[in-house]
Amino acid sequence: MSTSPLSPQDKAKREAGYKAAEYIINGMTIGLGTGSTVAYMMTRLKERITEEGLSICGVPTSIQTTMRAMALGIPLVGLEQVEKIDIAIDGADQLDPELRLIKGRGAAHVRERIIADASERLIIVADPSKICQQLTGPVPIEIIPFSMSHVIRRLSDLGGTVIVREGVKKDGPVISDNGNIILDYTPPAIPDPEGLETTINMIPGVVSCGIFTEFTKKTTVIIGEKNGPRIIGL
Ligand code: A5P
Repeated sequence: MSTSPLSPQDKAKREAGYKAAEYIINGMTIGLGTGSTVAYMMTRLKERITEEGLSICGVPTSIQTTMRAMALGIPLVGLEQVEKIDIAIDGADQLDPELRLIKGRGAAHVRERIIADASERLIIVADPSKICQQLTGPVPIEIIPFSMSHVIRRLSDLGGTVIVREGVKKDGPVISDNGNIILDYTPPAIPDPEGLETTINMIPGVVSCGIFTEFTKKTTVIIGEKNGPRIIGL
């Protein structure tokens, strides 16, 4: 069977994901993020489980990750069954020099935030295209369906544009793993990510937005690059 060669971006994702898998040691509980870069980490983790007899369990952040872990044979456990998570490993859509993030392209950011908060350490895996000097958005926002018109009005008052995320191969809005609707909000600029995160999360009906500023002190970023992975932070 022939497989097509990886693009440079996918190689970078694989580089970052494989490196992150090295941080996992025997007995750890791992928060398993969502997306294509984390998928590489899970592939390498499975190899380590097979080759080294590594004993770990993962807490998944989405249905996608649950399905991938089950297909690979990575042991899973529910959040309610663990006292703590040692490391969460997750991707990002944008990250700035202070390691503030935008997440949620895959509509998984609500569970990703919970798992990041429950974890002692957060490792973000990314390719170089995710690095920016200043976060710009769009900012994914999960909202309860009842609140849609109200939240759109409040966001419009802040300026910028807001759209309801539409399904692919599904008519109408994307429905998250939590049964909610996703908005993609592009503000005019994000000079104050902490302030905007708070402002959005305070709008009644918002479950959570995809700006993550509160985890920077426990974050390590691994960027896959041509000459090997680059580590930023801890
Ligand atoms: C999921 O909702 C997102 O937060 C992902 O973690 C993020 O979009 C990164 O995905 P990729 O690794 O596929 O770029």
